[in-house]
Amino acid sequence: MPSDPPAEAALPDGRPAADVLAELRALREGDAPTRGGRTFAYVYDAGLEGLDELAAEAYAAFATVNGLDPTVFPSVARLENDLVGAVAALLGAPGAQGSFTSGGTESILLAVKTARDHARAVRGISRPQLVLPATAHAAFHKAAAYLGVEPVVVPVDPDTCRADADAMAAALTDRTALVVASAPSYAHGVVDPVAEIAAAAAGRGALCHVDACIGGWILPYLRRAGRQVQPFDLSVPGVTSLSVDLHKYAYADKGASVLLHRDAELRRHQYFAHAGWPGYPVVNPTVQGTKSAGLLAQAWAVLRHVGEDGYTALAGRVADASDRLLSGLRATEGVRVLGDPAAGLVAFTVLGPGDGGAPDLSLLLHLADEMRKLGWYLQPQLSFDGLPPNLHLTLTPATVGQVDALLEDLGTALTVARSLEPVTVDPGLAELAAALDPRALGPDEVAAVLAFAGLGEGGGLPGRMAPVLVLLDALPNGLKERLLAEFIGSVFHV
Ligand SMILES: Cc1ncc(COP(=O)(O)O)c(C=O)c1O
Repeated sequence: MPSDPPAEAALPDGRPAADVLAELRALREGDAPTRGGRTFAYVYDAGLEGLDELAAEAYAAFATVNGLDPTVFPSVARLENDLVGAVAALLGAPGAQGSFTSGGTESILLAVKTARDHARAVRGISRPQLVLPATAHAAFHKAAAYLGVEPVVVPVDPDTCRADADAMAAALTDRTALVVASAPSYAHGVVDPVAEIAAAAAGRGALCHVDACIGGWILPYLRRAGRQVQPFDLSVPGVTSLSVDLHKYAYADKGASVLLHRDAELRRHQYFAHAGWPGYPVVNPTVQGTKSAGLLAQAWAVLRHVGEDGYTALAGRVADASDRLLSGLRATEGVRVLGDPAAGLVAFTVLGPGDGGAPDLSLLLHLADEMRKLGWYLQPQLSFDGLPPNLHLTLTPATVGQVDALLEDLGTALTVARSLEPVTVDPGLAELAAALDPRALGPDEVAAVLAFAGLGEGGGLPGRMAPVLVLLDALPNGLKERLLAEFIGSVFHV
């Protein structure tokens, strides 16, 4: 009897460690650099010698420890209590309690879960709402979608890009479980009027979360370095929880955030415990079950190593880079900085020709493409609800030495961008797209639109992103979301 052909192996035969590592290193060569201060999004570069090595060693020392059970691995409790204690000392109030999580999104998911379960248990709310400014991070919408909470989005002030506290107060109802303020917002780097928003929330018996994911570990140190910083943390009456990402301005490796609650009673709603199965009794403070203690250990080590003086000096360096960049941008003809950036985040738009020219999307995106050619990554952000399209820059201490070169290249790139043919979208196409129901589109139709946008098969990106993004900007949000999901599905094509 003929035997079955051998199944194709899932993996090739094993290879020496050195070969495997060489292949990994080679893969990195196609990536944007994560060190050196030229990639103005996604990376946080303290510019401190030895810090990456310290984080890697600390991670390695705890990589195999399972954070699931601190009774078997007591070191996990010690590290987490130290770390959350440090966050509470900087940003908390007496009695504050929290958890170490894998990032801003997980902290926000858990803040929304806490508010939902608190609203149900304490106020009898069965259809909870989440009131948030239009500039709140998309992670709140993800949390609302995951957790069955209704988002109520409040427009922000179009000049300052800050949340409008009166409009937020007016949006509160008896179903409001949670109100959100950002310190600062990711998109424009401006701090919302936290005290007013928190007071309005407290007046309705709702909880109030401050998203300090990006600002929590720099704003206090900017204050310490002598800058004016408005109160934004748990010391503000009415603020009931706060998130801060240690993998941002605390310069830990990625996978490190803390969610802090005003007290133990609130934190209880964050936890999940389950005894109704035959396996081990489960209690998970956070989303993950099994989790490596490596991420906790590296964050602990980085905080300990940098210390108060170190963070104060690093914040001063970011502020210095920010001052120099802002004055250079404000002096550049046709550039408009959005709002009044508080920490290391800057967003600017580019105006089209003519006196009092309007923000020019095509010019802005040509500029981003030209800057990319010169080795700089500035993050394009599309227009939204009256807020102009812009380029976002996250500054880190390593940027300080790059500001002059950046401004010089920006001037050159702007001249080139102005000389290029504007990218436009056929108004007929935009009208057609507006009439499409994204949920009703079949895979072939979505593939055709993606190909039209220049995002064809295989997930490769075109050399210039301006044509793709100009088209995307013109599409309704539902269609944008469908196309983005489909595109990323083609990147992860297996
Ligand atoms: C203000 C703010 N909130 C939340 C997040 C989400 O954090 P993460 O990407 O770590 O999940 C970010 C990320 O940039 C942020 O800036």
